[in-house]
Amino acid sequence: MNKKESKVAVVGAGVIGCSWAAYYAVHGLQVNVCDIQEGYQEHARERISVLAAEIPNADVKMAVKQLSFFTSVEEAVAGVDLIQENGPERKAIKQQMFADFERYAPEDALLVSSSSGIVPEDLSVRMKTPERALIGHPVNPAHLLPVVEICGGKDSPKALVEQLENFYRDCGRVTATLNKPIEGFVTNRLQTALVREAIHLVGKGVVNVHDLDQLFMASLGVRWASIGPFLTGQLGGGTGGFRGIAEKILTPLFTSMGYEPVSGETLDMLEQQTTEYYPMDKMKEFAKVRDERQKAVLDIQKNHPLPNKT
Ligand SMILES: NC(=O)c1ccc[n+]([C@@H]2O[C@H](COP(=O)([O-])OP(=O)(O)OC[C@H]3O[C@@H](n4cnc5c(N)ncnc54)[C@H](O)[C@@H]3O)[C@@H](O)[C@H]2O)c1
Repeated sequence: MNKKESKVAVVGAGVIGCSWAAYYAVHGLQVNVCDIQEGYQEHARERISVLAAEIPNADVKMAVKQLSFFTSVEEAVAGVDLIQENGPERKAIKQQMFADFERYAPEDALLVSSSSGIVPEDLSVRMKTPERALIGHPVNPAHLLPVVEICGGKDSPKALVEQLENFYRDCGRVTATLNKPIEGFVTNRLQTALVREAIHLVGKGVVNVHDLDQLFMASLGVRWASIGPFLTGQLGGGTGGFRGIAEKILTPLFTSMGYEPVSGETLDMLEQQTTEYYPMDKMKEFAKVRDERQKAVLDIQKNHPLPNKT
C-alpha cells in the first residue's frame, strides 16, 4: 500500500476521530470522515484544521483538501484501504460498526479500532471473518503522540498484523504490537493500575489530590518520561540489575502491601529479558542518557509552571 495513494475512513469524529483525521490528512492520505451526528461536519472540519495546525510543519490548507465528510458508513468505507474506527467505547455499538465495515468495505481493507480496551474477539462477534478485526490504539492526543498499540485477535493472520504495522510506520507512527489480546491492552492497564492506587490513597486520606500530583510530577513522572520501569530496575539494582532490586526491595514491598510475591519462574524470565535488552556492561551509557533526559524533563517543568489556582 503506497501511503500517498492511500484512502482511509475515520469513522466516529469525536475527540480521537478528529485527531486521527488531522494526522492522516497532514500526512497526505485521503480521509473520509464519518459520524452519525447530524450537522457534525462544520464543527469537525474546524476542529481537524486546528489540530492539523498543531502538527509540526503541517500544510493545513493541503490537509483540509484531503477531507471528505459522510454520514453513511456504507458510503464512507467504499474503496478505502483502512478504516480507523473511533465510535463510543461500547461493545454493542462497535460490534455493529465492524459488521457494517465487513459488509461495505473492500475485502482487503484493514478494519481497525481505536478502542481503549475492547479486545478484537469482542468487536468481531457479528462478523463472518472475525480475524479481520484489529486494534490500532492511539494515545491521546493521537495527532501528536507517536505510538500506536497494535493487537490482532487470536486467529488474526500474522501477515495481516504486519500489514497494519507497516501502514502505521509508513505514516510515521511508532508501533508496539502485543503478543496476545488482553482487555485494556498495555497502556491502559498500566494507567489504570496507577490511577486506581492514586484514588485509593486519596480516598483513604493518606494524601490529598494536589500533593499526590506534586509527588508524581517530581518523581515517577520525570523518571517514566525518560525510561521505562524495567530499565529503571536494571539501573537501580546495582550489580544485581533488575533481579537484584526485585529480590531486595520489590519482594518485601509486595509482601507488606499484601500482594503475591513474584514467582522464581517469572523472575528468571525478567532477568533474561532485562539483561538481553539492557546488558549490564552498558549500564553507564544507559545511566548517562537517563540522567540527561531527566534533567531535560525537569527543565521543561521549570520553564512551564502550572498556573496558580486563583
Ligand atoms: N479520548 C481518549 O483519550 C481516547 C484515547 C485512545 C482511544 N480512545 C478510544 O477512541 C474511541 C473514541 O473515543 P472518543 O473519546 O473520541 O469518543 P467521543 O465520544 O468523543 O466520539 C465518539 C464519536 O462517535 C460517533 N458515533 C457514535 N456512533 C457512531 C456510528 N455508529 N457511526 C459513526 N459515528 C458514531 C459519535 O457521534 C461521536 O462523535 C473509543 O473507543 C475510545 O476508547 C479514546
